[in-house]
Amino acid sequence: MCGIVGYIGHRKADKLILDGLKSLEYRGYDSSGAAFIESGSSKIFKQIGKVDGLENIMSKQKINSGLGIGHTRWATHGSPSMVNAHPHSNEDQSIIVVHNGIIENHLELKYELESKGYIFKSETDTEVIPFLIDYYFNQDLSFENSFKAALKDLKGAYAIAAISTLNPEIILAAKLSSPLVIGVGKNEHFLASDPSALSGYTKKVIYLQDLDVAKITKTKVTINNLGHNHRVKPKIELIDYDNEKAQLGSFDHFMIKEIFESPATINNAILGRVLANKGIIKLGGLESVSEQLKYIERIVIVACGSSFYAGLVGEYLIEELAGIPVEVQLASEFKYREEPFSRSTALLAISQSGETADTIAALKKVSDYGILRLGIVNSIGSTIARMTDAGVYCHAGPEQAVASTKAFIAQVTVLTLIALYLSNGQTKLYRPILKELDSLPEKAQTILNQTDEIKKVAEKYKGYKDFLYIGRHFSYPVALEGALKLKEVSYIHAEGYAAGEMKHGPLAMIDKEFPTFALASNSLTLEKTYSNIEEIRARQGKIIAVSTIGNKKILKLANDVIYIPDTLEQLQPVLQSIVIQLFSYYMAVAKGFNVDRPRNLAKSVTVE
Ligand code: M6R
Repeated sequence: MCGIVGYIGHRKADKLILDGLKSLEYRGYDSSGAAFIESGSSKIFKQIGKVDGLENIMSKQKINSGLGIGHTRWATHGSPSMVNAHPHSNEDQSIIVVHNGIIENHLELKYELESKGYIFKSETDTEVIPFLIDYYFNQDLSFENSFKAALKDLKGAYAIAAISTLNPEIILAAKLSSPLVIGVGKNEHFLASDPSALSGYTKKVIYLQDLDVAKITKTKVTINNLGHNHRVKPKIELIDYDNEKAQLGSFDHFMIKEIFESPATINNAILGRVLANKGIIKLGGLESVSEQLKYIERIVIVACGSSFYAGLVGEYLIEELAGIPVEVQLASEFKYREEPFSRSTALLAISQSGETADTIAALKKVSDYGILRLGIVNSIGSTIARMTDAGVYCHAGPEQAVASTKAFIAQVTVLTLIALYLSNGQTKLYRPILKELDSLPEKAQTILNQTDEIKKVAEKYKGYKDFLYIGRHFSYPVALEGALKLKEVSYIHAEGYAAGEMKHGPLAMIDKEFPTFALASNSLTLEKTYSNIEEIRARQGKIIAVSTIGNKKILKLANDVIYIPDTLEQLQPVLQSIVIQLFSYYMAVAKGFNVDRPRNLAKSVTVE
């Protein structure tokens, strides 16, 4: 979603801002903009579409500034347009602001400001901010104090950076429920809503906390907390970026590149954590809470989208292997529920980005309950990683495509490790799963070697408008994830169902125009899934089956079969996922869509 970058220092701010914006492009956006203070006056640039377009218009003007802010906007209030793009400013462009989040009381503030003579140009909620600062500035407050006064009027979520010709030596920054991080350099400072934008410039960062207001000069960062009303000592932390900025290499899209990283992803998730020959699982991130974990009697998993479906796989795994009851809840619904929580419950948040607003809100909701808050996160140093008491990183590296692929695989792999860890070796499957995990990367590669066949199947079905995905037990969450993946990149209507539910409704949809993707690998439930396939065939529904190598019977039942290597039922979701991801990818390519940046979607959903 929206991204913020800022720079103050001895380098050319325009290059820094453009670089930063480009590294945030993967989050999804529809317009971008930048502003600079130069010799006491401001320069503002905006463009709809790609950052390249912004770069193009900026290149037509000479910019010689060491102070700038930039923004990528993903429209929430008002359509993507030049006037709605950030930065926003007051009338004479002396106060300039970029903002992520949503100002919930913006209409009230707007009416009040209009009554004072302010004329709004945009449909955004953001425009109230520079006007409020302007208003307080005209009440004889300094730029800094006007900024603080304006913040006190705002309700909702924000990460804000403001610059001004009235004080051309500072950037003011503030955050509430939206991430913002300051990068510390030598005689220079950086600002970003996502630490990955700082990669290559500095590893020293200061994470702003909710209600922090930072005054940033070239050489100094001063932080005050509006909530506690006191000065905060900036805490510099070292960030270990997972990788250098991801490059496409020889791949056409990030999505296929990231699917092809599956074997390495599984490897990285288990590396140093699984000692199969010794029968040991070592999860360093949980060591500090290992005693507390012994007393956990219930786990509530909260997550959104694909991470939620990974959580559903985790539910089955943890219950079956560790015997701990698990409930998976959509983070966006969790906050409305009034459910009783005992101290023996742990909350486990799953998030690729670590910045999903709903998941953060779920963690915040339980912050006073005194319960253990755990995380499975991919983005190192992200908000969720820092909010939780303990957790396990996915180590999948940066995921650039909007559709989650390798991160989902890493999440499921990590959940398997956590389930085994919590089992304390008390499940008979402990050793077999540990052993099988070692061979999983190689089995994932076997699937990738069949990419051409999967591509052919996708091309064969590209004309269909609806799809059903079915699976039982461990394959059920994969069916849900398969449908989501197809929807988001190929815009085909798809629904995921537990196969056992077919006769309870979905079977009514089946005819020759409504194909089904059946997850039918070797398992205890396979015979029952065969019955579902028969029912669909009897209604002329076409079947694409994912089955285990060697299964000949399925050839008679399905129109098309994609085989995966044999593995334990508990590990099948990892392998099946690669198939559904490849199928969705090739479907989107066949339909000519922008695979990495599906319409209307953002990589990181930072507003509720
Ligand atoms: O970063 P998160 O894992 O918290 O994101 C959750 C969802 O927004 C995300 O999984 C989304 O559903 C993806 N686009 C799925 O491919």
